[in-house]
Amino acid sequence: MSKERKQAVPAFIDLAAQHEQLGDSVERAISAVLKHGQFILGPEVAELERQLASFCGARHCITCANGTDALLLALMAEGIGKGDAVFVPAFTFVATVEVAVLAGATPVFVDVRQDSFNLDVESLEAAIGEAKRRGLKPRCVIPVDLYGQPADYKAIGEVAEAHGLLVVADAAQSFGASRDGQKVGTLAPYTATSFYPSKPLGGYGDGGAVFTDDDDRAGRLRALRNHGKAPDQPDTEHVGMKSRLDSIQAAILLEKLRLFPREIAARQERAERYAEGLGSVVKVPELMAGATSVWAQYTIITERRDELAKACREAGVPTAIHYANALNSLPPYRQVLAAPAGLRQAEWLAERVISLPMHPYLSDEAQDLIIGTVRRALTSRKAGVAHAAE
Ligand SMILES: Cc1ncc(COP(=O)(O)O)c(C=O)c1O
Repeated sequence: MSKERKQAVPAFIDLAAQHEQLGDSVERAISAVLKHGQFILGPEVAELERQLASFCGARHCITCANGTDALLLALMAEGIGKGDAVFVPAFTFVATVEVAVLAGATPVFVDVRQDSFNLDVESLEAAIGEAKRRGLKPRCVIPVDLYGQPADYKAIGEVAEAHGLLVVADAAQSFGASRDGQKVGTLAPYTATSFYPSKPLGGYGDGGAVFTDDDDRAGRLRALRNHGKAPDQPDTEHVGMKSRLDSIQAAILLEKLRLFPREIAARQERAERYAEGLGSVVKVPELMAGATSVWAQYTIITERRDELAKACREAGVPTAIHYANALNSLPPYRQVLAAPAGLRQAEWLAERVISLPMHPYLSDEAQDLIIGTVRRALTSRKAGVAHAAE
């Protein structure tokens, strides 16, 4: 990336700068796939699965076509469906609830916490009670590691165990992070992640993976992603789906994985710099005790979101809103059962969150421009609304 581009307009996520770091290694890796021609489940896929499992310490990694399928495959591998309640946070990307419906189960919304943006355990317990009263069988909870920070799997695991629930971690945004010294991929019986291009570890197209330590589960997932045909069986044994990672994407991800540890460290450094520059004027994200984040998004909370977005736009600073709606307000999910005390935090956050540019190649200069713009916008008027003047 040229110096001029850095100074002019900070990118929200700068894949071009990353590509420059990779040199021509990606082109060479793609070219190798073109030469051997095993485009589906080729050697790069097996190698990537081996390296990803080793990266996070999980026994098995099963790649697939995208993060949404990764979640669905986990539900299918457990036969979750009609009459089963699947608990999902109301503040997340739509895929988390979508898969419960696609599996034929009944989703139930759970509220989130304002401090971590992640699932609220008390709300989960109340939602389980509500589902039982409605004659549903509580089967599964899908905690989401929003913006890159793992949910509280210890507390969630205790509730899940008490009620016989399976935990499927939605780690689409958090691969590379950890909680209490354990890496994402090993925090739940199933962990689903995404390699969508803008994710911390992203390909040049769609991709996803499921992690598990259980040999039987891994075997079922390998069959389900390939029309229900296990690799060692001559033909289909179960109804499956077609959800495989292309060899070309695997080859690209193998190259990107080499940069990933350095990129995670750079993201953390950028997050600390934001907290230092903005912590006195706006609510910056917090890490929970024992958690690390890969900062898929750097998301702040403000009562003056529209004003801030406008000031950023005028200064050439891109922003995004993840997410402008709690899922219970989206048309297909308005009738979904919710925790009895409601989804107040999810709705509150949806009105106040705004994400700033975050990527490992954000220069000091670009970040100073962003910090200066946000500080000016939030301290310009309305003294006392939030924080001290600059
Ligand atoms: C929390 C969450 N879950 C699931 C997904 C789905 O991943 P994919 O887009 O790879 O299907 C995403 C992707 O944005 C996500 O952010």
